[in-house]
Amino acid sequence: MTKFLIVLGSPNANGFGAEIINNIKEKFNEFDKALEFDVLKVSETDYKLCKGCGQCFITGQCGLVKEDNYNFYDSLIRYKGIIFLVPSYIHQMPAILKNCFDRMASRMHEFPLLGKKTIVVAYSLSNGEVDLKNYVTGILGSLGCEIIQSFSFNKCRDDYDKLTEGLVQAIVKMKQKVEERKFAVTKSQEQLFLYIKQIVQMELDNKVKSYKQIRWGQLLEYESLVEYLKTARL
Ligand SMILES: Cc1cc2nc3c(=O)[nH]c(=O)nc-3n(C[C@H](O)[C@H](O)[C@H](O)COP(=O)(O)O)c2cc1C
Repeated sequence: MTKFLIVLGSPNANGFGAEIINNIKEKFNEFDKALEFDVLKVSETDYKLCKGCGQCFITGQCGLVKEDNYNFYDSLIRYKGIIFLVPSYIHQMPAILKNCFDRMASRMHEFPLLGKKTIVVAYSLSNGEVDLKNYVTGILGSLGCEIIQSFSFNKCRDDYDKLTEGLVQAIVKMKQKVEERKFAVTKSQEQLFLYIKQIVQMELDNKVKSYKQIRWGQLLEYESLVEYLKTARL
């Protein structure tokens, strides 16, 4: 049994994104019962707004966790495959989803989601879906995710059946890749790796402490992410 997570990034739990989820579940119920989906609707989370205290960069712990038990990252890390459904809000992701990522901003320097396979659907009523797709895939790439496929869907212009068909194929592909246990990284992820590695090395040389050095204890000896992935237990 394989289980993937679907993250619905809308503040509306019952809008178009919810329709896509029902559609996906229905399709896979018809032809692959060995694949199940858990759903995380960010509208149902109650995370306080990031206050910019910077504690996460120093201690690795968000200063607000004690107040609201923020666990977005813990929810993601349990799955090998994650599908992000994100509506265009002025060509951006909704604030409620952005806050989920802001609350783990310090981890952007650690590739914490390395090995996770993801699919992104950025959708809009009529505009902004392409910029949004690029932004979301950029963030996920920085976190270490492998993007299996990304879709930009414009409700005014694009064909819904085609989206569903493409999405089903992408999910099947993601399942195959998870089963093969093969990992891939992009050129820009490798460039980011070398860039942050340089920063960490500089910090260590200058005896500057930062929380990311703990994670980098595992990464520093490697020349590339690909080299690390050959030995990592993911
Ligand atoms: C605050 C806000 C901003 C929006 N900005 C855009 C936009 O820039 N372009 C667009 O085409 N649609 C925009 N929309 C429409 C949503 O993208 C669209 O209704 C989408 O279906 C919402 O997702 P949901 O139905 O899953 O909640 C916006 C909607 C809201 C509430």
